[in-house]
Amino acid sequence: MKSNIQLFVFSLSLYIFSLHADTLQTFIIQLHPHGITSSQFTSKLNWHLSFIKQTISTDEDPSSRLIYSYQSAMEGFAAQFAQSELEYLQKLPDVISIRPDRQHHVQTTYSYKFLGLNFVKGGAWYQSGFGRGTIIGVLDTGVWPESPSFNDHGMPPIPTKWRGICQEGQSFNSSNCNRKLIGARYFTKGHIVASTSLQSNIQEYVSPRDSHGHGTHTSSTAGGASVQMASVFGNGAGVARGMAPGAHIAVYKVCWFNGCYSSDILAAMDVAIRDGVDILSLSLGGLPVPLYDDSIAIGSFRAMEHGISVICAAGNNGPIPSSVANAAPWITTIGASTLDRRFPAIVHMSNGEALYGESMYPANLLMSRGKELELVYVTDGDTGSQYCFRGSLPREKVHGKIVVCDRGVYGRAEKGQVVKEAGGAAMILANTEINLEEDSVDVHVLPATSIGFAESIHLKAYINSTMRPQARIVFGGTVIGRSRAPAVAQFSARGPSFTNPSILKPDVIAPGVNIIAAWPQNLGPTGLPEDTRRVNFTVMSGTSMACPHVGGIAALVRSAHPKWSPAAIKSAIMTTAEVTDHSGKPILDGNEPADVFATGSGQVNPDKAINPGLIYDIRPDEYVNHLCSLGYKRSEIFSITHRNVSCLDIMRTNRSFSLNYPSISVIFKEGMGSKMFTRRLTNVGSPNSIYSVEIIEPEGVKVIVKPQRLIFKHINQSLSYRVWFVSRKGTKTRRMSFTQGHLTWVHSSNAFYKVRSPIAVAWKYK
Ligand SMILES: *[C@@H]1O[C@H](CO)[C@@H](O)[C@H](O)[C@H]1NC(C)=O
Ligand SMILES: *[C@@H]1O[C@H](CO)[C@@H](O)[C@H](O)[C@H]1NC(C)=O
Ligand SMILES: *[C@@H]1O[C@H](CO)[C@@H](O)[C@H](O)[C@H]1NC(C)=O
Ligand SMILES: *[C@@H]1O[C@H](CO)[C@@H](O)[C@H](O)[C@H]1NC(C)=O
Ligand SMILES: *[C@@H]1O[C@H](CO)[C@@H](O)[C@H](O)[C@H]1NC(C)=O
Ligand SMILES: *[C@@H]1O[C@H](CO)[C@@H](O)[C@H](O)[C@H]1NC(C)=O
Repeated sequence: MKSNIQLFVFSLSLYIFSLHADTLQTFIIQLHPHGITSSQFTSKLNWHLSFIKQTISTDEDPSSRLIYSYQSAMEGFAAQFAQSELEYLQKLPDVISIRPDRQHHVQTTYSYKFLGLNFVKGGAWYQSGFGRGTIIGVLDTGVWPESPSFNDHGMPPIPTKWRGICQEGQSFNSSNCNRKLIGARYFTKGHIVASTSLQSNIQEYVSPRDSHGHGTHTSSTAGGASVQMASVFGNGAGVARGMAPGAHIAVYKVCWFNGCYSSDILAAMDVAIRDGVDILSLSLGGLPVPLYDDSIAIGSFRAMEHGISVICAAGNNGPIPSSVANAAPWITTIGASTLDRRFPAIVHMSNGEALYGESMYPANLLMSRGKELELVYVTDGDTGSQYCFRGSLPREKVHGKIVVCDRGVYGRAEKGQVVKEAGGAAMILANTEINLEEDSVDVHVLPATSIGFAESIHLKAYINSTMRPQARIVFGGTVIGRSRAPAVAQFSARGPSFTNPSILKPDVIAPGVNIIAAWPQNLGPTGLPEDTRRVNFTVMSGTSMACPHVGGIAALVRSAHPKWSPAAIKSAIMTTAEVTDHSGKPILDGNEPADVFATGSGQVNPDKAINPGLIYDIRPDEYVNHLCSLGYKRSEIFSITHRNVSCLDIMRTNRSFSLNYPSISVIFKEGMGSKMFTRRLTNVGSPNSIYSVEIIEPEGVKVIVKPQRLIFKHINQSLSYRVWFVSRKGTKTRRMSFTQGHLTWVHSSNAFYKVRSPIAVAWKYK
């Protein structure tokens, strides 16, 4: 939903902040978990307040500076300080780190069928009881509880381990929760403090109720109930249901009009851990930052130690390389892919040419037969009229015409509103080279279509070629199955991870383009204040939409295997992902086969994930070894893991340590001819299983695996193998900076079990 523009604006505002060094701002103060000074205080809260008290002047009440006191996601607190006070605070005993609060942004009737989920015996839904008994926590913009997707008909009782609450607030009371929506809370303190200087005439519910729609959409995608006859004005009609329709949902509202602050996110993770969620789904993120500086990564580590799977969106800054966010190895990082469902809205130009476009405008209304109208593309001076900025379109130029607007700078649906207000009859939204051929459809307030970059060049050339350019838009309804899918979404963030390239990210891709899911009943389908139409479902695109698909799938896997660790669940999802599309050909990214930095392990396949045969498990300690192998400092590792370790000792006894990750990233540095990794597989399929290895070697690399066969005698048995990568001569001079391949363990008699790991190889010569 959010683009790189917002992230860019964000870094600008940080800069402005630093000019006003002595105004108060929010910091997250991390403390020693067994602090020597803590025993002097009767409570955690008092201990936390003591740090504020020592730092600020005596006549001020320390609690007026405190924002949150944390316990489970991190030891420490969030509070307001002036820059000049930090120096003193930093020197106090037990203070481990001080981080400024960061702003993050939020980044489907059909997708469950596309992913192969069906009511067949032996399928993932059947085996998991639709995710029965599992609790999915969603950190987002809140929820619209009256949506039919949160109906609790047929839901089992609330699990006895649940400790959460249904927090009352504006237009939200405890009766809004039920056996489907079992918990709801809101976190606003960090947001309020950061937003006081901004004009806040924007109406928002001060409660878990969703004012934006994003959280209603994502939480229903993860665990929404079945709703018959769901559609968006007749588009995409069918039964709407989440990935895990039997799972319970708990919402934690942390995102407001001004974004989502890490102090609020951490507070939500803090209580979600104690509430007893099994899965956390976070469709939000910022710029990639080092793990020890990343509150989501730190909170997730603690959640993972409590057995909670954390699933995060990779971000929408693709196709820029190394744009992937939320890339900590204990997080499952999700990129976005397309469905094979299209909403054609074709532009027929008077010169006889037709341009393919897509739109969800109600086909049975106006223009469905395509009335021919004059076309106009206003490119006046520097008013931004080509982008259809507010106030930039002169009525006399656009009245009654089809107006062409370039995509970008602000919302797609908002441009439709601007054209409508200026008297335009219809709109063609033209992609620029940033978006290329990516079509994210909207439910525009006027007849409109969205065309790709190649089409927009044709269109503009035609407009330029004649005095009276004319066209009509022909709406084609919903078309399923005629295009190649899944393909990587243009906007989906790409690896390699900027902060930790030794782990291949994103982990998997899942549907994130034109996803239909639940929507608040007081918002129009565009979410614009002017949009007075009302719907129970709308369409959205983004890695935000992909993330809760995997949140729901993780719930299915967990329900089928309640004792599995977060790493085991993630391994099951990764090693069973598909690398080919529905036509059996490689998944595409634009017109080229997608690389592993776009797809990770591939497109999720829930039916296979529930029964992966073998898993790569990881114990929490092993992440500590991994951080050591990255060369992180003791204090940095302590910030992330709360463990005070000597990497020197760890590396001495674990000389050739490699994290037991389900994918492999090899980096050859100058003078390095080969690399060896150890991996450990645990049998979760059938006893007496023999697996043999199949390798597709990355170009320029020889791969040797020992042993070539793994003979498992019983369930839960673990066996290790080693894999060597040898860089072939002359690779150094090659143009290509990386190559890829994969390594698959194949069961000798049961073809269902194929345990696949992608391999990325990079040469980093100076
Ligand atoms: C909560 O809202 C429902 C529905 O609006 C209402 O019937 C009920 O009385 C409210 N309960 C409380 C405790 O306010
Ligand atoms: C239209 O034509 C003019 C002159 O022939 C050219 O300068 C301009 O770039 C063209 N614009 C587009 C959008 O093709
Ligand atoms: C949305 O759902 C509610 C509750 O099920 C129902 O009363 C209402 O008619 C629905 N609205 C639309 C536009 O379908
Ligand atoms: C970690 O352990 C070392 C040596 O045992 C000690 O000097 C240091 O203070 C400890 N650091 C923290 C943050 O506990
Ligand atoms: C080596 O790694 C294992 C976990 O993989 C850990 O149990 C062991 O303690 C490590 N060795 C040292 C000295 O920390
Ligand atoms: C495998 O291990 C799990 C968790 O430790 C245990 O619950 C299960 O019973 C074991 N299965 C077998 C067949 O030993």
